Amino acid sequence: MLAIQVASPNQHIRPLTSRINESGHLTIGGCDVVELAQRFGTPLYILDEHTLRTACRQYTGALSRHYPGPSLALYASKALSLLAVSAVVAQEGMGIDVVSAGELLTALQAGVDARTVYLHGNNKSAFEIGLALDAGATVVADNWLDLETLADLAQDRPEPPRVMVRMTPGIECHTHEYIRTGHLDSKFGFDPNELPQVLAFLARTPTLHATGLHAHIGSQVFDLQAHIDTARVLVEWFNKALTLGLNFSELNIGGGLGICYTPTDDPPSIEQWVATVSRAIIDACQHYNVPLPRLLCEPGRSLIGPAGVTLYTVGSTKTVPDIRTYISVDGGMSDNPRPITYKAQYTAAVANKMNDSRRSVVTIAGKHCESGDVLLRDVELPPLAGGDVLAVFSTGAYNFSMASNYNRLTRPAIVLVSDGEASIVLKRESLDDLLRLDRLPERLQP
Ligand code: LLP
Repeated sequence: MLAIQVASPNQHIRPLTSRINESGHLTIGGCDVVELAQRFGTPLYILDEHTLRTACRQYTGALSRHYPGPSLALYASKALSLLAVSAVVAQEGMGIDVVSAGELLTALQAGVDARTVYLHGNNKSAFEIGLALDAGATVVADNWLDLETLADLAQDRPEPPRVMVRMTPGIECHTHEYIRTGHLDSKFGFDPNELPQVLAFLARTPTLHATGLHAHIGSQVFDLQAHIDTARVLVEWFNKALTLGLNFSELNIGGGLGICYTPTDDPPSIEQWVATVSRAIIDACQHYNVPLPRLLCEPGRSLIGPAGVTLYTVGSTKTVPDIRTYISVDGGMSDNPRPITYKAQYTAAVANKMNDSRRSVVTIAGKHCESGDVLLRDVELPPLAGGDVLAVFSTGAYNFSMASNYNRLTRPAIVLVSDGEASIVLKRESLDDLLRLDRLPERLQP
């Protein structure tokens, strides 16, 4: 039988269903995106359901192919927490990693089984931990305060709450320093020198059901070696925990697999990442002669990033002679703060001129009152005119989830496209929404 190679979404800049139709328009999920811009307005986030489901299936499929023990892939919902996305990933057999009451409620209200939900965070409130325990989710303890709160809240419960321990593995990886988390100087997780005490605490606290260890080393990582090293460190501590009599059964290797934002990005495929991590865990377990744990991973960006595209309408133009031409669009750093935060680069196309082969170099600026509000610097695009629809690719992860109302702009709608149908999964904010929580004290009223 011929093995069919399905593209790994994280190795593609455009969603897998991207095509060009007879009008020379970009289509995604069978929908003409120029029509979507007209129908729903811009800026608009589009999510391609097929690309998301393909990525989910590649994680779950690769785990079952490469890891002989039990496994569960979790979606790191910080990348984009929405009812619809939670429902899709749960349908694909995945669990969800949440980091706040808001993300937790989103997962639960989408119908995700709480036994597959894991609560993270380096400063969880007792309220958030309580909500997670009431729902039956697992809490990943990041620090002593978490453990104390958990021990407190566990007291009157019929069943010991499930707890994992997050550790800082001391692994450096090559990514932007703001999104690196596994090196020792990190605010997340227990430092290795604290772990003996943590394990001893868990061993003498039977009201908590400690299930295993977690580590996450960073995001937008292309280097497989960093995850191999992390797997080894996790198994080393897993072995120590078993030696202390703890009944550990799970290891979570975190997320972090990078995606293509530009043609020079060359991340490993989901299959390669899972195969490599699985091999590293299996080898380390053989080395320490410990049984294979249930293997968890929690990708965010590589699941939802490539599924997302942002549409803008082109507006004003300014040419600075001999320097550059600025083309402004109707969104910017409020819907995509990644360029200004991380100098992140993106790739764009003109959705209504896909067959236009002319190129000029332009800089795409946002509409915010901030000089750094530039979405793409010096990119080659067909000549742009007011009203053109610009599509910026790979914006599914950490775009809407980090969006703001800077300059009191309303945040865009999100539509999920599939088989020629577009469904609103998040309504566009209205100006009324912006003012909904404002109050004018009586003494200031006109
Ligand atoms: N697990 C934990 C504990 C995490 O902190 C993260 C990401 C993930 C999983 C998912 O990582 P991913 O597979 O998405 O790389 N705002 C930044 C990214 C911050 C990532 C934070 N943690 C950005 O826009 O690049």
